[in-house]
Amino acid sequence: MSSHEISEAEDKLPEERGAESAVRLAEDPFADPGLPPHEHRVQDIDERAARRSERTVALLFTVSMVATIAFIAAYVALPVDKYIYVFPIGHISALNFALGVTLGIALFTIGAGAVHWARTLMSDEEIADERHPIEASPEVKSKVLDDFRAGAKESGFGRRKLARNTLFGALALVPLSGVVLLRDLGPLPGTKLRHTKWAKGKRLMNYNTMQPLRPEDISVGSLTFAMPEGMSEEQHDFQTEIAKAALMLVRLQPENIKDKRELDWSHEGIVAFSKICTHVGCPINLYEQQTHHVLCPCHQSTFDLSDGGRVIFGPAGHALPQLRIRANDQGYLEAMGDFPEPVGPAYWERG
Ligand code: FES
Repeated sequence: MSSHEISEAEDKLPEERGAESAVRLAEDPFADPGLPPHEHRVQDIDERAARRSERTVALLFTVSMVATIAFIAAYVALPVDKYIYVFPIGHISALNFALGVTLGIALFTIGAGAVHWARTLMSDEEIADERHPIEASPEVKSKVLDDFRAGAKESGFGRRKLARNTLFGALALVPLSGVVLLRDLGPLPGTKLRHTKWAKGKRLMNYNTMQPLRPEDISVGSLTFAMPEGMSEEQHDFQTEIAKAALMLVRLQPENIKDKRELDWSHEGIVAFSKICTHVGCPINLYEQQTHHVLCPCHQSTFDLSDGGRVIFGPAGHALPQLRIRANDQGYLEAMGDFPEPVGPAYWERG
């Protein structure tokens, strides 16, 4: 609608405007229906009602002023150690209570007065404003381009090749200082994420009793947790190391082991796998003995311990690393080396 059409529409009575837009809609259901007819409020047509609204607004603002004065008076007059009982809050500081109430009233009545003023006394007629094109005119565009070319020429950017090229070099190199500072995030992990405390000949210690495990300690259907011999909770790096070395053991019937390497790396059907989930590293602790599945409680990754620790469900991307074990001459279970691959989430493989 142009501004001329808007002012014409405003000159008409609401009923006329409503009838016109109904006719327009009947002719073309997709036509812009325009603004709904303006309805006058009682304050618009009755000066006495308008004055009543004005007095209400003034009263609210006056209450706000009184509350502010009361706030200052309470701050000055009330002692900080006086307590009063206020239902249902209980015993509270009289000063805090008075300050809170008076400030609350002062702010609320300003807001209420402003809203009442806007709703009853300020104009409530909707006005449509035309959108103007935001594209610059062809003259402005060509002037900007001319200015740009003139600026580029004056700067000598194209002619002073030495300065220009060294500027490019400096701009390309300067971000490197930020990259170098990344080193301050800590020492590089090197290969320490690739290795755990497991090594050839290290006995498997029961995580709960701290006693070395024998094959007969591992019963069918149970999940046993173990850690390498020589670790104790008193060591300062215990948590760091156990987060990599934690081990779980289950006993399977050898004929139920589907993976040949797993069978070779087991002892009398006892298989040892990393307890650290290969998704984001939660400790696995749920075992389903009929299916030989273990479940990570964090995001439900499920691994098949009878099939090389293969992932059969969930977001984990890698099978669980297996530890090769045997029984030593004294009849204790021991490792035959470290895990063949980094344990835990895949990003550790970069360590
Ligand atoms: S950490 Fe195990 S499923 Fe996510």
